[in-house]
Amino acid sequence: METNHQAISLKSDTGNQSFRRMEKYQVHQLDVRYCFFPLLLGIVGYLTACSSFAPDEQISMENSMGKVTSLPQPQIEGLMSLEEALTLRRSVREFSSEVLSSGEISQLLWAAQGITDPRGYRSAPSAGALYPLELFVVMAEGVFNYDPYANTLSLIVEGDLRRDLYLVALSQDSILQAPLTMVFTAVYDRTEARYGPARTPRYIQMEVGHAAQNVLLQAVSLGLGAVPIGAFEDDRVHAVLDLPPDHEPLYLIPIGHPR
Ligand SMILES: Cc1cc2nc3c(=O)[nH]c(=O)nc-3n(C[C@H](O)[C@H](O)[C@H](O)COP(=O)(O)O)c2cc1C
Repeated sequence: METNHQAISLKSDTGNQSFRRMEKYQVHQLDVRYCFFPLLLGIVGYLTACSSFAPDEQISMENSMGKVTSLPQPQIEGLMSLEEALTLRRSVREFSSEVLSSGEISQLLWAAQGITDPRGYRSAPSAGALYPLELFVVMAEGVFNYDPYANTLSLIVEGDLRRDLYLVALSQDSILQAPLTMVFTAVYDRTEARYGPARTPRYIQMEVGHAAQNVLLQAVSLGLGAVPIGAFEDDRVHAVLDLPPDHEPLYLIPIGHPR
């Protein structure tokens, strides 16, 4: 088994730089609101964000961090209304063996935590825009970490760990059947630094609910099925996925084609 925590810490650094850029931008906006600087910064920010989006085709490359795969650019128009998706959403626990396409995977990850604004804001709200959530996907090929800025997946652990995950999640069959299980973790320090230990757990639990609901609705809109899973052994999920020490697993979402 190969592990790759360096990719995660590098990713977090990228994220922090973006937050710093974002905060700088917001200060400028207040100071010189009616000058042309905000407009200029907006244009520069927009161009920076656009250049970080992945191309349409999936590209795999090897770098010092291991295998990094570019995801197709997410679509911002779908075939189903929000009202229809809300009406049709039901927890689905039985899946066919059909794997998800890279486009579907990209779309689901984008719904969870994708960048939707040149200033770095995401598809789900976050207290103070501190973004404590991290996303992993568990598939036959291995465990991957999502980088929303680069729209890439980094291989963290090679090999099929779906059975191991199933065993530490009360042997829930949906995890065994699903071609992909999305795993939400949180790095509490990111939020606690600003909001303290009393409010942080509450904020993070709210945030993971926002992000998970986005995924569930996106799955419906793609014709896929999903179920949110909260019943699992935290420590053993942490160990099976070889998560970094500061990550706490919060939610699992097996996703696949309904059977
Ligand atoms: C916080 C939370 C934890 C849940 N955990 C599980 C779980 O461990 N296994 C499971 O099969 N369903 C789980 N569910 C799904 C619920 O069983 C499901 O939402 C409920 O039966 C209502 O059905 P619906 O989702 O089709 O509306 C969970 C739902 C929530 C909100």
